[in-house]
Amino acid sequence: MDTIHITGGQPLVGEVRISGSKNGALPLLAASLLIEGETVIENVPDIQDIHTMIETLRSLGAKCTYSAPGTLHVDATHISSFAPPYHLVRRMRGSFYVAGPLLSRFREAEVPLPGGCAIGPRPVDFHISGFKQLGAEVQERHGVMHARASRLRGTDIFLDGRLRSVGATINIMLAAVLAEGTTVIENASREPEVVSCENFLRSCGADITGVGTSRLVIKGVPRLHPSSVRAIPDRMETGTFLVAGLVTRGDITVTDIRADHMDIVVRELVRAGAHIDRTEDTLRVRMRMRPNPIEISTGPYPGFPTDLQPNMAVVAAVATGTSVIEETIFDSRFTYADELTRMGADIQVKEHVAIVRGVERLSGAPVVAMDLRAGSALALAGLAAEGRTSISGAEVLDRGYETFTAKLSSLGAIVTREHHGTEAGVATC
Ligand code: UD1
Repeated sequence: MDTIHITGGQPLVGEVRISGSKNGALPLLAASLLIEGETVIENVPDIQDIHTMIETLRSLGAKCTYSAPGTLHVDATHISSFAPPYHLVRRMRGSFYVAGPLLSRFREAEVPLPGGCAIGPRPVDFHISGFKQLGAEVQERHGVMHARASRLRGTDIFLDGRLRSVGATINIMLAAVLAEGTTVIENASREPEVVSCENFLRSCGADITGVGTSRLVIKGVPRLHPSSVRAIPDRMETGTFLVAGLVTRGDITVTDIRADHMDIVVRELVRAGAHIDRTEDTLRVRMRMRPNPIEISTGPYPGFPTDLQPNMAVVAAVATGTSVIEETIFDSRFTYADELTRMGADIQVKEHVAIVRGVERLSGAPVVAMDLRAGSALALAGLAAEGRTSISGAEVLDRGYETFTAKLSSLGAIVTREHHGTEAGVATC
């Protein structure tokens, strides 16, 4: 268990480079399983979830080596197993992404079902239904999905239009690229991380049209060829540092980003009173006062990202009035509310809506990080609060944020990390 100690109240000032996207890089790593030869992925973040995916690929026989920091070479020419071990898949739901490529290339995958998660039930029924519609025989036995197919055949697949699953879109697309005939995925997710995977597959010879839309048409090809790709910048890390600038009344410039991926986030921060300057690959946030109250509802891209919802609750917690935050994607995404309340926030959660009455100042307190995004919200609250906040369970932040405390320190935060030496249980998300 690690604890991060933050002494709040300093306006954060300076420039911070944003790392490659966790959710963008994970599907690229999984997609490399489709290819005989070496895939080169640049801008890979050095975070726990990527380490887990690398271990997962290695468990299947793929070779993964770095030629420089952030430049990963994956050679999946020789695959010796179609069954990643449970201890890796339970660590991170993203490991389930190996199912689609294994099924597509080898017609066989035995992948443990990822199970529950701190932010609510997260089934993979859409993924499995897609595999079945492509012609796979799928059985769930002893917590493992066994999928086999003598051949995969393209078909029309309608995903749930309200939920627009990111994971199912990616996994089904990965399964369909080498299938016979044409697969149409309706209600596909349009998240930038999905689009980056679509573009990568096309660069390897996949025949995909409708890139970036909710209707993907995938004509199966016999094989893909090696290619190289750069992971897109992390939207969630970008948003977290923008909110850090806002709630500490600072002046932060995030660099190496895609401003066009941040439109709705920027819109909400401006509504909250932030001054934002924008170029194609930088955003500068400046704030001098308490934020205005906010009203957000999460949704699939281009809607407001659920992963930044907990961060926005910190904006709401110190706003000048009452804010309303609606969560439409996950069932239990307000787990941070009780911890923020311990820091003086006034939050009432009723089902999928949080009503947040802003207070003048939060006060530092010992709190517990329940999951990655809740952890980052608590860190932001600690930065804005008076006094010292100690966040235990802080190792969850390593899953998605590269050198988080070092980046905060470089902006003037007073932050230290304490390692307690005991192995922590890792939440599956
Ligand atoms: C991905 C992201 C996660 C983000 C989420 C929503 C990765 C590794 N993770 O998660 O950070 O919060 O998108 O933007 O990229 N659902 C089903 N059945 C399924 C699949 C999903 O009911 O088979 C439901 C989920 O429970 C959830 C909703 O659909 O309520 C959306 O989930 P999904 O988009 O699939 O999230 P993930 O891909 O798991």
